[in-house]
Amino acid sequence: MEKLVKKILTDQEIKEQVKSLAQKINKDYKNKDVILIGVLKGAIVFLADLMRYLDINIDLDFMAISSYGSETKTSGVVRILKDLDESIANRHVILVEDIIDTGLTISYLMRNLRSRKPKSLEICSLLRKKDKQKATIEAKYVGVEIPNCYVVGYGLDYNQQYRQLQDIFILESDD
Ligand code: IMP
Ligand code: MG
Repeated sequence: MEKLVKKILTDQEIKEQVKSLAQKINKDYKNKDVILIGVLKGAIVFLADLMRYLDINIDLDFMAISSYGSETKTSGVVRILKDLDESIANRHVILVEDIIDTGLTISYLMRNLRSRKPKSLEICSLLRKKDKQKATIEAKYVGVEIPNCYVVGYGLDYNQQYRQLQDIFILESDD
């Protein structure tokens, strides 16, 4: 069995982080049109909050991927389950992620998206685990650096559970 052991971010703290990320994006993309690409499913709660603090023109699209690996570890081998609806060629793109752990997933996505020739491409991730990046990731917008443990809530899941929690918790599992 697994259990929630500690609240590491309250909904209020998350809100402040999201707001401050949005302010940076508003400033950097003033007078530009941006397409936000959400990585399903984990990023939807973050994306839904983030976009409501943006005062620039945005378009939304989504990708769904599955990474081969166990429940709590990514292998870096990624399969696209749902691709973008639209072309991103010559457009300003921000890839919106919930969390960067090893960085393998996002580096695969960045390579894939870069090959479609966007005008610009940046990463916005709410969380990043410290000292974990196997792939070198240049993430321009990162909310909070967290310790190297498994977290759930605010869109983040364990076995598709816990996504609806308003705060973010550390999850510990016995197995
Ligand atoms: P990475 O490829 O190791 O960077 O893993 C990234 C993906 O794994 C994220 O998009 C999440 O879906 C998932 N993930 C990594 N760490 C956690 C966590 O602590 N809680 C929930 N999901 C996680
Ligand atoms: Mg994810």
